[in-house]
Amino acid sequence: MGAKAIVGLQWGDEGKGKITDFFSSQVDVVVRYQGGNNAGHTVVVNGKKYKFHLLPSGGLRGKKLVIGNGVVVNPSVLLDEIDMLSRHSKIDLMVSDRANVIMPYHIMLDGIDEERLKDKKIGTTKRGIGPCYADKIARLGIRMGELVDKELFKERLETIFLLKEKIFEAYGLHLDINEIFEEYADYGEKLKPYVDDTIYYLNSIIDEKEILFEGAQGFLLDIEYGTYPFVTSSNPVAGGISTGAGVNLRKVDAIIGVLKAYITRVGAGPMPTEEKGKIGEHLAEKGGEYGTTTGRKRRCGWLDLVAARYASMVNGIDALAITKLDVLDGLEKIKVCIGYEYEGRIYDGFPSMINILENVKPVYEELPGWEGARGKKRYEDLPFNARKYLNFISEWLDVPLTIISTGAGREDTITIQAD
Ligand code: IMP
Repeated sequence: MGAKAIVGLQWGDEGKGKITDFFSSQVDVVVRYQGGNNAGHTVVVNGKKYKFHLLPSGGLRGKKLVIGNGVVVNPSVLLDEIDMLSRHSKIDLMVSDRANVIMPYHIMLDGIDEERLKDKKIGTTKRGIGPCYADKIARLGIRMGELVDKELFKERLETIFLLKEKIFEAYGLHLDINEIFEEYADYGEKLKPYVDDTIYYLNSIIDEKEILFEGAQGFLLDIEYGTYPFVTSSNPVAGGISTGAGVNLRKVDAIIGVLKAYITRVGAGPMPTEEKGKIGEHLAEKGGEYGTTTGRKRRCGWLDLVAARYASMVNGIDALAITKLDVLDGLEKIKVCIGYEYEGRIYDGFPSMINILENVKPVYEELPGWEGARGKKRYEDLPFNARKYLNFISEWLDVPLTIISTGAGREDTITIQAD
């Protein structure tokens, strides 16, 4: 038995939901290890769209779901999703007692911070993710294990208010501790049956069962490796599995990197291959590039292989899943970024500083376009130029292809067996 991981190699929205859904048919357990309800996974089953923000997407396959310790949990959202999924299938869910809880003040502070930043705002999802992780690191968080124990929760909330009430007031927030306690203690009561020690659970099954670790967001949004400060506050990188789920990384035998056939980004921050004109519009419209979580229109551009190579290197990608290939159907020429020009020199590495990244000029390779990749189910049936494009990516990254997605439905999927 073994474990696989699915990670996004761009700024999120690579179509991981569909890939996770695909692989989850082959596993027993699907685990999330970071992020919160800032994520949005859309899975289309029989033409019907299902949107999840917090639950792992494997839920629609009736698999065991685990929310690991590295996730931040909005209890009200979790209860809503449990309700939604339970109308579709039986729920088998375990939530880590170590996972931190997103409190109402986290959501409020996220909004206020963004307003204050004015034109320097990050463009967060305003779900309280950053403030919740900040409190976790400052040792001022509340964990799920505390939320589900009324006495502990009360004590913890009082301690936090002792330290933070002045800060809340400085922000103009006058919070009623009793109201918060009542509302959240009720969530705790309802979620109690799901809360447990997921670390011992996962380690007890890892040698016997198939596990899938599902990354949320993408590598370029990683707090450590992404385009800081225009990042999220967690570790979508595959290494986040170790800290966010408590399992030995050597037990993960395949890391699958998901790459959209072009690139998108929601929110602010550098994006060297962004196309603001007709091409960008075309990709946004044809690709339906509107956020699952916030509905915001995504910025679109050509595939950036400098960023993808950086992502592949740090994550240690074993195989590539390329999504939305069909969105490129009908374009006469397709560009791929293979270097950055900065102050007269060409670089093939991804700069760590955004002041440089904001000013690089992409160096493009131009490839011929194609018609009719949409809905193809076999690699041989893809148009010649589409195959050429895929091979170019795979060779450039030196990573084999495993899945090609040619449409939104489960059936629009090509699988490629390793030699
Ligand atoms: P936060 O995660 O809400 O703090 O937002 C920080 C940055 O990450 C913003 O640019 C968001 O648009 C982006 N972000 C967060 N979650 C996702 C996601 O699931 N897909 C794409 N972008 C995301």
